[in-house]
Amino acid sequence: MMNKDALHPFSESLLAWYPANARELPWRQTRDPYVIWLSEIILQQTRVAQGLPYFHKLLHVFPTINHLAKADEALLFRNWQGLGYYSRARNLHKTARLVVEKFNGKFPQTYEQLVQLPGIGPYTAAAIASFAFDESVPVVDGNVFRILSRYFGIETDIMHSSARKQFTEIAQSLIPRAYAATFNQAIMEFGSLQCSPVPACETCPLRVSCVAFATNRTQTLPIKSKGKAPRNRYFNYFIVVQKHRVLVHMRHKKDIWQGLWEFVQHETSQLCELPEAIGPFGDLLAFPTTELRSPGKHLLSHQRIFSRAWLIQVPDFVDLAMFGDFQWMDAQDFEKCGKPVLILNIITDNLVLHELLV
Ligand code: ADE
Repeated sequence: MMNKDALHPFSESLLAWYPANARELPWRQTRDPYVIWLSEIILQQTRVAQGLPYFHKLLHVFPTINHLAKADEALLFRNWQGLGYYSRARNLHKTARLVVEKFNGKFPQTYEQLVQLPGIGPYTAAAIASFAFDESVPVVDGNVFRILSRYFGIETDIMHSSARKQFTEIAQSLIPRAYAATFNQAIMEFGSLQCSPVPACETCPLRVSCVAFATNRTQTLPIKSKGKAPRNRYFNYFIVVQKHRVLVHMRHKKDIWQGLWEFVQHETSQLCELPEAIGPFGDLLAFPTTELRSPGKHLLSHQRIFSRAWLIQVPDFVDLAMFGDFQWMDAQDFEKCGKPVLILNIITDNLVLHELLV
């Protein structure tokens, strides 16, 4: 075992801080790589408080990797609903099947093998390898960039492609071989509770040796240049209902929301009025149309979706069997389909849809 005296002062202070300050979180009570993996993917999506109910729910529905691998993707999407960014859920499912088929349901145990699985990048591979298998590899995420850039006064732009390598090397030099799992949990916790975006320097035990604190740079570090400007998109939705059914389709396009269900949709190059907004589906304007409340701007990681929505009620006697690649679906069945958060918000914001669709 490593001599504790040989630890870098950073690691020593961090390891002393952690037991006195750590929150009790359920994924810290386990060494099961499946549970750890699930928790880390959820936490990439949301903060701890919002992630906890999803963690419990997903583990309840899919208690083991075999359950997840065997499940229908739609069931996972339904339970993922609200977390957004469904490609994470899709990769979760893909990886579960791969681990069951190729590794007999047992997770590979090394960073190098883990990082090759779909949806498992350097951060997640390091988290699983250290938390479940004690491998001495550092987790490097936004928390770690922030803490190390402040503590060591590093001016590298963390958006630059070389930043990960630089910070990984520094973290690797700090991680104590015998306490890899604890060090990684500790640095994540320290980033949440102490060295957060607005840091709590007054109570920080590391401030005596923190370069940013000494040089009054805690507000300016880490340096993060602005990424690409997000793309603006304009979606027009038409909630076409007849009796208790609705016209829907599953998105197949790779751009966003692949595999999720939505209403009749037409994308335009700016927000516009009817009839431009409805584009090729203009025949539907033969029926009564009412504009609904729509959530306005919906933010994704690289896109801003502006939307408008209209309700179109088709009288019972009209026979509208075929409509492009849209299909009629009973409202009860549609309720069970995975849907983008924007669609859920449109439903939530319009009481009339609660009556028609639920
Ligand atoms: N965020 C990401 N991973 C985490 C973990 N293991 N504990 C707390 N917050 C986290």
